[in-house]
Amino acid sequence: MAEVKKRKWGRLAALGITLAVLVPLGYLWATSLVPGSYDPADMGYADYGGGPSMDHEHHAEMPGMAGMSGTSVADLTGPKNGIPNVNVTLIARKQKFQLASGETVDGYTVNGTSPGPLIRARVGDLIQVTFVNESVPDGATLHWHGIDVPNGEDGVAGVTQDAVPVGGKHVYRFKAPAAGTYWYHSHQVSADEVKGGLFGPIVIAPATPGEVVATIHTYDGKRTINGRTGTARVEVPAGTTARVRVINSDNAIVRVGLVGTPYKVVAVDGRDVHGPTPVTAAYALAAGGRVDLEAAVPAGGMRLDVGTAAMSLGIGPTDPPKADLPADTVDLLTYGTSAPLGFDPARANRNFEYRIGRAPGFLDGVPGLWWTINGHKFPDVPMFMVAEGDIVKMKISNTSGQAHPMHLHGHHVVVLSRDGVPATGSPWWTDTLEVGNKESYEIAFVADNPGLWMDHCHNLPHASQGLVTHLMYEGITTPYKVGGSSHNKPE
Ligand code: C2O
Ligand code: CU
Repeated sequence: MAEVKKRKWGRLAALGITLAVLVPLGYLWATSLVPGSYDPADMGYADYGGGPSMDHEHHAEMPGMAGMSGTSVADLTGPKNGIPNVNVTLIARKQKFQLASGETVDGYTVNGTSPGPLIRARVGDLIQVTFVNESVPDGATLHWHGIDVPNGEDGVAGVTQDAVPVGGKHVYRFKAPAAGTYWYHSHQVSADEVKGGLFGPIVIAPATPGEVVATIHTYDGKRTINGRTGTARVEVPAGTTARVRVINSDNAIVRVGLVGTPYKVVAVDGRDVHGPTPVTAAYALAAGGRVDLEAAVPAGGMRLDVGTAAMSLGIGPTDPPKADLPADTVDLLTYGTSAPLGFDPARANRNFEYRIGRAPGFLDGVPGLWWTINGHKFPDVPMFMVAEGDIVKMKISNTSGQAHPMHLHGHHVVVLSRDGVPATGSPWWTDTLEVGNKESYEIAFVADNPGLWMDHCHNLPHASQGLVTHLMYEGITTPYKVGGSSHNKPE
């Protein structure tokens, strides 16, 4: 009898312990589930960065705001009228195709190739792109990486538009706001579609005789420059000032640089560097970032190295000798000379923190070690709230064990300091900032482009694992939904 009782209690105790473990786990699991459809404007929790909050519910009670229901991102478009200066049609396909160097890749193309065609415009041009999805089964969009377009033209599925289904099209229209080197890519299931080839370069500047556009991408583990593995050469006469526009469309940082002559870093992420001086170091180009390198072509030619000399592009009248990149790296914190920013970060009225960490738990029901933002997991992450005209400071720090190339849409930000050391070189404007493990950056920007903007890691698999949040202007709404009947999946 006593035996039976003891066993019964033992079993009950075991059950109790099991429940004590399972119930909280089940709770964590259940609360991690991402709804099948949600409004990105309602995601997570509002973070006002110490600035004023405006309660949307109470607009009607505020003087002068009766009946106001905010601005839809769908209304924040580029010019509706006017004849475009640049008018292109880009057709996306899922297909087997051949790289420029001959290898077959099963992926995605734009107008039959990857990278897709170079779009060229001048500052102020009205650009019109008719995007057609011929055969990308998950749907697709085009995002203009680094171009601070009006929000409605930003091309993010579920945030600024619906993914374009097979057989559908979408017309983008915007004025080219600033000269520089940019790229376009799908922002629907982007971790897969960009990797597979759904992207291309865009340059806002007239072509010059010594211009070279070099888009770096890895297809099926094969690294390429402009779709070519190995080495190649562009014919440029000696003495020409060559401007080499390098685009990193991969998910990882890559060291690049010119060998065979000193060169200048003349632009970063579509913004000119002030007072660049000649260097013989390498440049660490973040995933999604761009850099313009300039040098007078020497008689024997020069070479753009990507990682190693084995992956390089000869530039000049003859094929220059192969040489690896030097070990040292240009540091933009001190490179170039200072110049006015055009605003005063000391007057910031929003101060945000973007703390990237990693923690065990569930993400959409899947157990794992997941990225966290300010201690929160996707989709319960901060929504950085601003009002138009705000001066915004943000401290991005990273203790997650890996590096993250952080990309804010719709804005360029300036670096104020790294690990507490103030920037003293040229204003370091960027749209894609590599934040290494254990590093922290203080950045600032002016909130001058109303909308709902993604702010995410451009190692795109990381974004799809939840390293995503948004910058939201007060009073903005979106009619689009992540998930839902359009199957929008921006990451
Ligand atoms: Cu290049 Cu959110 O993207
Ligand atoms: Cu990342």
